[in-house]
Amino acid sequence: MEFLQLAKKRYSVRKFSDRKVEKETLDLILEAGRVAPTAVNFQPQRILVIDTGENLTKLESCTPYHFHAPLTLLVCYDSTVSWKRSYDNKDMGDIDAAIVATQMMLEAAELGLGSTWVGHFDPAALRTAFDIPEHLVPVVLLPMGYPREDCIPSPHHEKRYDMEHTVFFHSFNGGRHPRG
Ligand SMILES: Cc1cc2nc3c(=O)[nH]c(=O)nc-3n(C[C@H](O)[C@H](O)[C@H](O)COP(=O)(O)O)c2cc1C
Repeated sequence: MEFLQLAKKRYSVRKFSDRKVEKETLDLILEAGRVAPTAVNFQPQRILVIDTGENLTKLESCTPYHFHAPLTLLVCYDSTVSWKRSYDNKDMGDIDAAIVATQMMLEAAELGLGSTWVGHFDPAALRTAFDIPEHLVPVVLLPMGYPREDCIPSPHHEKRYDMEHTVFFHSFNGGRHPRG
């Protein structure tokens, strides 16, 4: 699919069918994350595939937004690996993990699967449930699977500001006029 078409078509899927995600399909999604750009190419992403009954049940105690998906990817970053900007020591791990997750989300959409970016989870509960060591920082949960037949985009999906609201030319102080 043409990229912009895919970017517009993707929406947060919160209802899933029982259909299992095939191994080959999951491999393609993980591959899209593997090739993502990361700061200084340090590749600090650490991804936990949550797809067994036992682990999916554990997940339910960490977030209300599990949507009973047959598969969830937990994207973390390793804070001992991620690049820190020298000027202010900003840790780029969150950003790296977000890019990795975005690429996987879009690849899933391309393959006919749905997912939702979930930031609302209890990090402490997640650490305990999945025995996550201190140096791994959980960033995003991606519940995913095949959308249920009755799944439709939420009204939020259609709500995007016009570019005048978010894009500025020349300066942020009133510089909203287009180039040229
Ligand atoms: C950083 C981030 C955190 C989010 N956290 C949640 C969440 O915890 N639960 C949820 O249902 N959706 C969550 N979402 C999904 C957004 O609500 C959704 O992407 C937005 O409303 C636009 O809708 P669309 O994805 O259908 O286009 C999150 C999205 C982002 C980018």
